[in-house]
Amino acid sequence: MNQIIQQVKQICQNDTSGHDWWHIQRVVNLAMYIGRKENANLYLVQLGALLHDLDDWKFNESGADHPIARRVMAENGIEATIANRVISIISEVSFKGAGVDTTPSSPEAKVVQDADRLDAIGAIGVARAFAYGGHAKQPMHTPDLEPSIHSNFDEYKGNRTSTINHFYEKLLLLKDRLNTATARNLAIKRHQFMEQFLEQFLNEWGFKG
Ligand code: ADP
Ligand code: NI
Repeated sequence: MNQIIQQVKQICQNDTSGHDWWHIQRVVNLAMYIGRKENANLYLVQLGALLHDLDDWKFNESGADHPIARRVMAENGIEATIANRVISIISEVSFKGAGVDTTPSSPEAKVVQDADRLDAIGAIGVARAFAYGGHAKQPMHTPDLEPSIHSNFDEYKGNRTSTINHFYEKLLLLKDRLNTATARNLAIKRHQFMEQFLEQFLNEWGFKG
């Protein structure tokens, strides 16, 4: 596992879009904690969490089936049946729009999806959203642009939005879309923090003296 960790670190080290190594490490820690409480297979959970963002749809233009995750597993001698289970986990993790059902099919995918979603909310979630917004050259807030609830993945992908709208299009919805009770508990404070943040942000934005 150590060799895989080093390779993932190296691949993610220069990322500034919110998918840096520290995100992966937080997701691994969250996933292992949730996985232990929920009796998931921790080996699959650890591999899934480590490899879940290597072939993110926003960066994988080739359309190939998780080429980087597959290569890292092959180079480290992970046998095909395990590798296929890990690919199935990571292919089910991603959020694809508010109106799109992305409930995972295995206990391990449920755990990794929950861990990834917990790292998208709370104080870290606020920071990652603005980091991503800068990376994507998207405005911080556009008061006259309404948030939209996307009914399919293509709409969500092609979405022109603002970082504040992203809270309404995704981040505030996540607490009710978690798969495990363990993650739902961890989400409570993180969700409250985002609500406080938005209230304060919009108050300051509208200040007229
Ligand atoms: P995940 O790690 O769940 O796959 P994403 O790849 O969708 O998450 O996004 C990475 C981070 O960037 C998350 O914290 C997410 O909320 C944030 N993000 C994604 N799209 C936007 C957007 N349009 N505006 C602001 N933040 C975004
Ligand atoms: Ni992620």
